[in-house]
Amino acid sequence: MSTRSLGTTGPQVSALGLGCMGMSALYGDADRAESIATVHAALEAGVTLLDTGDFYGMGHNEMLIGEALRTAPAARREQALVSVKFGALRGPGGDWLGYDGRPDAVRTFAAYSLRRLGVDHIDVYRIARLDPDVPVEETVGAIAGLVEEGHVRHIGLSEVGAATLRRAAATAPVSDLQIEYSLVSRGIEDEILPAARELGIGVTAYGVLSRGLISGHFARDRQLAATDFRAHAPRFQGENLQRNLDLVDALREIAEGKGVTVAQTAIAWVLSRGEDIVPLIGARTRERLAEALGALDVTLDEADLAAIERAVPPGAAAGDRYPEAQMAHLER
Ligand SMILES: NC(=O)c1ccc[n+]([C@@H]2O[C@H](COP(=O)([O-])OP(=O)(O)OC[C@H]3O[C@@H](n4cnc5c(N)ncnc54)[C@H](OP(=O)(O)O)[C@@H]3O)[C@@H](O)[C@H]2O)c1
Repeated sequence: MSTRSLGTTGPQVSALGLGCMGMSALYGDADRAESIATVHAALEAGVTLLDTGDFYGMGHNEMLIGEALRTAPAARREQALVSVKFGALRGPGGDWLGYDGRPDAVRTFAAYSLRRLGVDHIDVYRIARLDPDVPVEETVGAIAGLVEEGHVRHIGLSEVGAATLRRAAATAPVSDLQIEYSLVSRGIEDEILPAARELGIGVTAYGVLSRGLISGHFARDRQLAATDFRAHAPRFQGENLQRNLDLVDALREIAEGKGVTVAQTAIAWVLSRGEDIVPLIGARTRERLAEALGALDVTLDEADLAAIERAVPPGAAAGDRYPEAQMAHLER
């Protein structure tokens, strides 16, 4: 598989990363054996970047990845890089309580993650959202301390704006910014992406399929469990959902004309936006993974890109990316 660099100071990783969140949380039930088989299939196909968060299933996702790595062939395990998000505070019922970026908390979160993953270092470590009560310099400085001690290899960021990117980069080398970027979430293009490029910081893009909304597989009448993030996400509600799925129908015409799927078109579009962008794929079955990896063989020429832009113009999506309370933690 082709590789891309995570910024000018980060590692070389596969052009697509595997986001493992949905294997433990937020998108309804997942099958453990199939999840592990999907991680193994991804590693076998040449995926080297696995993304997780310590709060995905309250440690479940890290333990799942730990098991998948332990049971993978040694050669594949050695190539795998694990990116971990920390800092989200959650209650026993899964409620979101805020974020903790205090240096002592950073070190504590890391100690637990290392143990759950069963590794001697974390490849990329980042706070999931900034703690409004702790200057970013302190949080990033604490991760830099872990880098010095060998517990972490690279420092990342997640969902921050251009000003924070600059402050963090002035504190320590930052490999990549993890942030939502897709055909229907193009907010980073004006300010954040240019700032990342200026600073030599790569982008790991999540929500490339807008959490399944623009995958081509999301049915108009799909019923979601109350624990599914999408049951509360504005883009998946009522009229918004119907309008957004109209966009998918327009995208489907272009995909079918090229003999590829809607998901492959959406992933290929993000891949086409720059060599410094690594899409994270939220596949949790081998079938979905195989489809997603097929995007690497899709070439979008100028005419394709123009047609896609007409079908899904910037700002076309109806509804915010997150429910209101969670929008408050985003710096844009
Ligand atoms: N930094 C952050 O704030 C943040 C936030 C969210 C996520 N992330 C990371 O980014 C990763 C990806 O995010 P995401 O899961 O929201 O992304 P996504 O790829 O936009 O959405 C994944 C959803 O798309 C559906 N899907 C349909 N066809 C697919 C295909 N061919 N390949 C993959 N998925 C397909 C899956 O549904 P079914 O499984 O039901 O088929 C899954 O529910 C996460 O796993 C997590 O590691 C980071």
